[in-house]
This record gives sequence, C-alpha cells and structure tokens, in this order.
Amino acid sequence: CGIIGVLGNHEAAPILVEGLKRLEYRGYDSAGIATVNNGTLGRRRAVGKLVNLSDALVHDPLAGKSGIGHTRWATHGAPTVTNAHPHRSGCVAVVHNGIIENYKELREELAAKGLAYESETDSETVALLAESFAREGFSPVDAAAKTVERLHGAFALAFLFDGEQDLMIAARKGSPLAIGHGDGEMFVGSDAMALAPFTDQITYLEEGDFAVLTRTSLEIRNSEGKLANREKRQIQLDMARIEKDGHKHFMAKEIAEQPTAIDRALANYLAQDNSIVLPEALDFSQIERLTLVACGTGYYSCLVAKYWFEQIARMPVEVDVASEFRYREPPISADTLAVFVSQSGETADTLAALRYTEGKAKQIAGLVNVPESSIARESDIVLPIKAGPEISVASTKAFTCQLTVLLLMALKAAEVRGHALPENVLEDMRALPGLVHQAIAAENSIQAMARDLAGARDVIFLGRGALYPIALEGALKLKELSYIHAEGYASGELKHGPIALIDETVPVVVMAPRDALFEKTVSNMQEVMARGGKVILVTDAEGAKMAGDGVHATIVLPALPDVLAPILYAVPAQQIAYYTAIAKGTDVDQPRNLAKSVTVE
Ligand code: G6P
Repeated sequence: CGIIGVLGNHEAAPILVEGLKRLEYRGYDSAGIATVNNGTLGRRRAVGKLVNLSDALVHDPLAGKSGIGHTRWATHGAPTVTNAHPHRSGCVAVVHNGIIENYKELREELAAKGLAYESETDSETVALLAESFAREGFSPVDAAAKTVERLHGAFALAFLFDGEQDLMIAARKGSPLAIGHGDGEMFVGSDAMALAPFTDQITYLEEGDFAVLTRTSLEIRNSEGKLANREKRQIQLDMARIEKDGHKHFMAKEIAEQPTAIDRALANYLAQDNSIVLPEALDFSQIERLTLVACGTGYYSCLVAKYWFEQIARMPVEVDVASEFRYREPPISADTLAVFVSQSGETADTLAALRYTEGKAKQIAGLVNVPESSIARESDIVLPIKAGPEISVASTKAFTCQLTVLLLMALKAAEVRGHALPENVLEDMRALPGLVHQAIAAENSIQAMARDLAGARDVIFLGRGALYPIALEGALKLKELSYIHAEGYASGELKHGPIALIDETVPVVVMAPRDALFEKTVSNMQEVMARGGKVILVTDAEGAKMAGDGVHATIVLPALPDVLAPILYAVPAQQIAYYTAIAKGTDVDQPRNLAKSVTVE
C-alpha cells in the first residue's frame, strides 16, 4: 500500500492524488483521501484504480489544505469502499501500510467499549483505538502515541484529526515512511518518489519512530520515546518516472529501454580498461560462499547467478526466496556474503531476510534499483543496478540489469580468486546492449505467435543450465500478465512428471541457444512433439537449423557466448508475456491482484 500526506498552503486533494499516482505501483485495489477543512474531517474513497477516485473527486470535491491519502493492496478484506483507507472513527482518520497482527483482540476490546467497526480490515482498528484514547481525554498526539504502543505487527501510519488543521502524526515500524520538507509545508510519503513533485528535502523515519508534524516543525521521537535527530537529505529523483514516452504501456517502454539500461549498468562497474570496479568494501578474497535472497523475478536473477558464481568463480551459492529463508533459520557461516536482490528495495520479506543475516554473515550487500530504499540503507554494501525507474508491475529492465551486475560480480570473484574468466567475456559484455536491441526487434514473430498462445489454458517453459531460471521467469511473466497458467521446468525434468500434461492444447516454449546442451534439449523437444505438443523454440540461427522438422514456431535471436545467453533470452520471455496479454486484452502494466512493491510479509 502507499501513503501520502500533506500539511500545505494549497488545496490538498490534487496534491494527494498526484502523490498517489506515483505510489500506485504499491497497490491499486482501492484508493482514498481525507482532509481537514475549516476544522472538519472529510473523506472520499473509491474501489479500483486511482482514476476512479479522481472521478469521484470531480463529482464530489473535497476541500482543505491538510490531508492524507492511500492506495491499497488488499490484505484483510476485499477491495470495497468500506475497506478502503483512510479509515475513520470519530475525530480520527488514519492511513496504514502493513499488517496489524493483534487487530482481532483489539477489535473485541474496542467493541466492548462501544466502538463499532464497519470494515473487515486490520487497519480500521488503528482509527478506533486512537478515537478511544481521544474519548478518554487524551490530546491527539498522546492518543496517537498510546495507539501505536498497543499495535503489534508492521506498520507505517499517518493520522489526521478533526479540529486540527496544522497537525499530522506519522509512525513507522516495519514499513517505510519518509517526511518531505517544503517551504512552510510538510509532507509524508511511503517513498521519496511520491514526494518528488513537491520537495527533494527528505527525512527518513527509522524503526520505531513517532513523528509530530506541523507546517513549520517536525519532532521525531524514537522507540524509547526520546527526541531523535534524523538527517534531512537532498534526494536526486527522476521526475520523468511516470511518462510512457509514446509507448502504449510502461512495460513496452521498459523492454525497449533495456539496451540503454544495461549500458548504464556496465558503465557503472566496468572501467574503460575492462577492469571490474565494485565497491571497495566488497573483497571476494575474504568470502568463501554466497547466500542470494530475493522474491519474484529477483529470485530468478539469483538462480541464474548461482550458475555463474559456481561455474566461473567456483564459489558455493545458496539461493532462497526471502519468505522461506528467514523462517527456515538457515545456519550462516561467518565467511558468507549475503546478497539481497530487490528492484524496489522495499519488499518486506526480503528486508526481513536481510535483518536475519545481520551479525551472522560477513557482509550484507543490497543489489537494488532504488538507492534510497530500505534494503539499500540497511546493507553494508550497495550495488545499484542503474535500470532507471521501473513502473510496470512486471519487472523487465530491472531483471536484465540485475543479471548484468551479478555477472560482473561473479567475474570479479573469479578474477580475485585466481580462476580464468571465459574468453573475451568483458568485450562480449560490451556488445550486450546491441544484441539486446536486436533481440527486441524479433518482436514481429512473437506478436504472431502470442495470438496463438492467448488461446491456451496451460503453457510450459523449458530451459537447461542457466536458461532454466529464464524458463521460470518466462512462466512467471506469462502468469502475471495474461493469467494463463504457466510452469517453468528444467528441460531434463520434463519426463519426470510434467510430460503427463502434454497434448496438442499445451504449447511448450523451449529456451535453447545452440550450446553444449542443445542436442539434449532437441531430444526433450522430440518427446514433446511425439505426444502432439506444440513446440515454440527460442534459439539462434544454428539452433533453428539443427532443431529439425516439427517445431511449431521458432524465434531466432542473435548468437552469443553461452555465459551471456540468460540476459538475452530474458527479452523474448518478456515479449511473449507482453504480446499474449495484449492479445487477451488484460491490463499489462497493472495486472489484477499484484503490486509492484509488496511491503507486507
Ligand atoms: C512483487 C512484484 C514482482 C517482483 C517482486 C519482488 O511481487 O510483482 O514483479 O519481482 O515483488 O520485488 P522487488 O522490488 O523486491 O524486486
């Protein structure tokens, strides 16, 4: 969910909506705002995307220069108007990001006091609790403080009070929150990006912080209730972030940006003389093993990186999804580099996993796209991937940039540890942006094929070696965007189960450059075709020639060294999903039920 707040000198509603637009990637199930106007709290909420709230505000405007707003990704309770934020009880309005774990117990307690709830959410409890303290005679600040003390779980909160035109309370425990300093104005936002149109002067709240804001003052108390001094930073932000630049979707724009983005990532870590320049603190001679942790698409980057680190740098690598990692309580030896890969740098599971490794691993590295993010701020070493702002929920350029940086890390590790690098690999990496550009141009053949795929109920993706995670990514992308059931398998694993699914209705997408394993993959394709399955082969010109007859469709990519293939083959995986979604007419940039940055565990 996304939070925005303003104590301003102009009408708050348009400012809140503008801020929410920049937070919509955090959820778009419903949205709402509340303001204080002439001392009176008012509220508007709408189900679905933010445009619905904007429409509602046209018909039924909301005046006032102080306000809070929220865009929701549903956890407790369906996306309905009643469940939408801000939640209100009596004199208090609240927006919340996170999960209040003890809400049931609190709700019963409050119901006994005669405070009725109307939504199914955990968040509403916060408003009820604050109202109950206000009824007991506590001031707004004290009522909010006492409320926060009673909450278990993870939250970022902003409170607004009836009768208080120049007061807002913000609190953070587990979910990020930033304060923006304007000229006689004060802002609150889930991230600095939401505040970018209004200010670049940002103070990040830390764990347990409780902040009292007026237009001209900010007072922060830490978890012990002591006054805390938090740095005010000037943030460099890319204001262009929410422009599609002539593309139909952000996803199309971000796919097309990959050559430039990869180039930027290379330029950041690869010097003119082809030396790999990583942050000085990262010394692979002091590290014996790696633990790579991420969620979603970032997890597949880690799986590819495992092949690279093991094959090239001969280092053992553990890879895990963040939500499993932490609760499994894996032993972590003191010679481990723990790497957390996250586009947003805010994913709650990944952040919790990072905190689990604190004091256990030798070093913690954050491989992020947002350098000001929580994961970056809590890592010993930050490796920005330089993809530029990624808006589409389905990750594209962040994925290929993550891969680019992870490969450079593996190569550096090999170098430091005295292992030979694949021949010419650094020169070849410099050619990547050009090759990716060529791969993008193969989209015509994909467009035609996607119309076929759009009719399928199930699709299987296959790949071997480092292309196996790309098969997983292709399947994830297709699921996310087109809602077609898709599974990725290691090609060799097909015969151990999934082959039972194969018939003429199940297309099988095979990611197979002409490499040392190609012939084995051809055998797997034969197994599919022998059972009437339709093979869609993604390969290079030589692979296309060798595949023989019977292949239903072929997507031909430029040939390139094996080690780089995962980066290039990610492109058709993205385009297959993109064009299938277009053919099905689904919402490409904001698929149902998903959010780009998931800040709850
Ligand atoms: C969400 C998104 C995925 C993304 C994952 C991890 O689930 O829908 O596309 O891969 O979060 O996000 P992160 O920002 O940590 O890379």
